Amino acid sequence: SALSQDELKAQVGRAALAYVGRGDIIGVGTGSTVNKFIEALGGIRKDIRGAVSSSVASTERLQALGIPVFDSNDVEELAVYIDGADEIDGRGYMIKGGGAALTREKIVAAQSRRFVCIADVSKRVNTLGAFPLPVEVIPMAARRVIRQFARLGGTATVREKNGAPLVTDNGQHIVDVTGLRITDPLGFESEVNQWPGVVTVGVFAHQRASVCLLGTPSGVQTLRF
Ligand code: A5P
Repeated sequence: SALSQDELKAQVGRAALAYVGRGDIIGVGTGSTVNKFIEALGGIRKDIRGAVSSSVASTERLQALGIPVFDSNDVEELAVYIDGADEIDGRGYMIKGGGAALTREKIVAAQSRRFVCIADVSKRVNTLGAFPLPVEVIPMAARRVIRQFARLGGTATVREKNGAPLVTDNGQHIVDVTGLRITDPLGFESEVNQWPGVVTVGVFAHQRASVCLLGTPSGVQTLRF
């Protein structure tokens, strides 16, 4: 019988436990797939030292299980970062930020030795860009960034919540860009990072996945990059 998307997420959430070692401090991402991982972590009470979290939501879930959550600045290197993605390609490059947590996600990913991406098969793409690309911007720069994306063939809008611009955990805005085909994720990330007022671009190429645990109807596929 066909597994639901929810079951595929639960499957990869459990599979990610294999990448967690006794005594580790682990990086934990954000989203519905990561929530399955956190649930699984609670189930086995694995003996980890703690976590660095990429969002208030994940912090609360970890603390509810009695897992200590450390400030990113108080930990040098993490063994592993476990997070979902909005899209992942055949080289481990990703689009992230659908949940608006991309800046903290990129920071925690950067301080981790390995990025284990957990995703159901619907996230696997050949070319990044069908999912609207999230970009966190300083509000003052939003209009200019939108014009810059128009020059690349993209259509960008400021993300709203209850009729007003959404404000991120960092007090900034999110621009979502459609109509892009990102064939050179490393170059694209580097270029957009140079634009004044861009805080974080939701392409994770310099912080790509090392491993992707992909949930498919016939089981978990492990992709290594
Ligand atoms: C959060 O900002 C995103 O980067 C998430 O990692 C992404 O949206 C995946 O979320 P789901 O696991 O809920 O699909």
